[in-house]
Amino acid sequence: MSVLITSVGELVTNQPEGAVGGGPGEFATLADAALVIDEGRVAWTGPASRAPAADRMVDADGRAVLPGFVDSHAHLVFAGERGAEFAARMAGQPYRAGGIRSTVAATRNAGDGLLQANLRRLAAEMLAQGTTTFECKSGYGLTVRDEERSVALAAEVTPEVTYLGAHVVPPEFERDPGGYVDLVCGAMLAACAPHARWVDVFCERGAFGRDEAQTVLVAGMAAGLEARVHANQLGPGPGVQLAVQIGAASADHCTYLDGADVDALVGSGTVATLLPGVEFSTRQPYPDARRLLDAGATVALATDCNPGSCFTSSMPFCIALAVREMHLTTQEAVWAATAGGARALRRADVGHLGAGARADLIMLDAPSHAYLAYRPGVPLVAAVWQGGERVAGSSA
Ligand code: NIG
Ligand code: FE
Repeated sequence: MSVLITSVGELVTNQPEGAVGGGPGEFATLADAALVIDEGRVAWTGPASRAPAADRMVDADGRAVLPGFVDSHAHLVFAGERGAEFAARMAGQPYRAGGIRSTVAATRNAGDGLLQANLRRLAAEMLAQGTTTFECKSGYGLTVRDEERSVALAAEVTPEVTYLGAHVVPPEFERDPGGYVDLVCGAMLAACAPHARWVDVFCERGAFGRDEAQTVLVAGMAAGLEARVHANQLGPGPGVQLAVQIGAASADHCTYLDGADVDALVGSGTVATLLPGVEFSTRQPYPDARRLLDAGATVALATDCNPGSCFTSSMPFCIALAVREMHLTTQEAVWAATAGGARALRRADVGHLGAGARADLIMLDAPSHAYLAYRPGVPLVAAVWQGGERVAGSSA
């Protein structure tokens, strides 16, 4: 059954008018527009006055329609919570990578049912806020069994599953970090690769150094996975340049960059994925997004939803932070949260609303994309379609 959404005040397409079959392009909008969904895809976009007939019609009444958000970085398979750690940080304690270990302990002790229920609750929370594609990492199990069940559970809710056995060295390997890297590249990888698309590593002081990170990524790629890297989050380091050299889809965080890091990203196939919710929640300086954008790097925005460094599932919140705190224009921020995320996941079918794209779209209770930052904290996502099906929202 085809659906015509008409009287759209602002339609964000991220595609030049008339383009068919490409991936996301530049930020682009149509005013007084309409869009036709057929068989789960965008079949047509253009001026409302020229819209073709369809089986059903939805009147947007001047509201904005955007591609669904693409959240390319999230850690959703875990048990427990770290509210007290957050409160201590707000009282002056620094964020430390070691906090991850308390979530590892809780996750190892949890039954599959609890992990699955937590994961589904967070996935539903994301969808209600307009996220129609999300990536999900393992990394709180850190044994063969616990990593394997983490990626298997993640695969139930998204095709964008990332094996992050190299999150931190678990306590039982404290005196033998090399032995842990061997496990991550050996039996653990063999168990996890069938369930995953991506391999990731936390390349940071206190986690894994450059050579260890490279070893993990090379092993994952040899097992058929594609690379992405947690890079330069807590201080300057080799992560970004390693990500570019290895051909990773994305270098994530990018909070501490020098000129050589920016130069490496520009013109590479590696997206700089910024996670401003982390800087908000750890009270760190925000990444220099303007420097990246002005130099010509491709920038994505994602939540990093996890119980430690940033427990938000809200892409609208990250857009508002990116605009207010990192000086992205509203257009740049919305592009980064849709098309940028799609680039970071190497997906051509999402992040835009060109003809042929997956019909993943959201309607805002607002006339333009700018309201996502103009009205921060207000639940503006009024309706969500995923693969052409209306999955959230009762209005319109
Ligand atoms: O992306 N940087 C490493 N991993 C997460 C933090 C996870 C945690 O604190 O539990 C991140 O910020
Ligand atoms: Fe992360």
